[in-house]
Amino acid sequence: MAPSHTVTGKLSSILDDSRLTISDAEFRQLREFIHAHTGIALSEHKKALVCSRLSKRLRHHGLRHYSDYYVLLVENDPEGAELMAMINAITTNKTDFFREPHHFRFLSEHVFPAYRQNPGRERPLRLWSAASSTGEEAYSLAMTALEAMPSFNEQDIRILATDIDTDVLARAASGVYTQTQASHIPEALLRRYFLKGQGAHQGEVMAKPVLKSLVHFHWLNLQEEPWPMHEKFDVIFCRNVLIYFDKPTQQKLFRRMAGVLKKDAYLMLGHSEAMHGLNDLFKPVGHSIYQKK
Ligand SMILES: C[S@@+](CC[C@H](N)C(=O)[O-])C[C@H]1O[C@@H](n2cnc3c(N)ncnc32)[C@H](O)[C@@H]1O
Repeated sequence: MAPSHTVTGKLSSILDDSRLTISDAEFRQLREFIHAHTGIALSEHKKALVCSRLSKRLRHHGLRHYSDYYVLLVENDPEGAELMAMINAITTNKTDFFREPHHFRFLSEHVFPAYRQNPGRERPLRLWSAASSTGEEAYSLAMTALEAMPSFNEQDIRILATDIDTDVLARAASGVYTQTQASHIPEALLRRYFLKGQGAHQGEVMAKPVLKSLVHFHWLNLQEEPWPMHEKFDVIFCRNVLIYFDKPTQQKLFRRMAGVLKKDAYLMLGHSEAMHGLNDLFKPVGHSIYQKK
């Protein structure tokens, strides 16, 4: 039987999460569905996590069984709206400004000075934050680039920031952060590139237009082929997303990233995401830093 989508508020609120349990068969069904649509590979020990993260979707639809939710996704979601909501619920979005700072140091000490001094450089410099989450990584790239090349503007530097999660992209595009989130930004940069919130926005900061103008947020599922970009990149940050994918998916993505990088351009991975093999395409030049051959 098709699940009812009309049950709202009252019934949903009395279905408390603690009564929702997921069977092994339901977990397997959803796990395969998630893998097919996002590349995210969930091992057995993620069962409780899936149960908890999707419970709010079941509550929203007034459903008691994960098998009904699966039917909804497969048979009653022609526009893909629930697929999107499911993806937004399942992704892990942890990020920080200047996370893994050695990558930003490498850019300001090696990559950006070499670019600035190269008379034959192609304009603009193109950077891609390939799983940008709420935008801290992309804005950190923008600050690092402006600090190294103060006379450059949005004609000279373009930062593409993409993610599969529409909620985090909307927050990223707003450029608004709490002061706790902003505590990872060095004080001088915070003053130069952010406005302090007033009144109702007390306790928040917002990226200034000079920073926002460099960064372009777009929805992109890394699994999709082909990617829509036509120009090649000088640097790709693809950090802390490949850990959610299985080895064959990772290898395929490395090859595809090589295809959208310029020669000698750089790929930065997260601290636990080493590249194995592919010596024909990349050489390691630092901790989780690879240069395209
Ligand atoms: C842990 S965050 C990493 C954020 C940032 N790169 C960092 O290192 O701080 C992982 C991000 O990958 C995104 N993601 C997961 N699967 C994806 C896919 N198939 N395509 C694009 N983004 C994906 C998630 O939505 C999430 O925002």
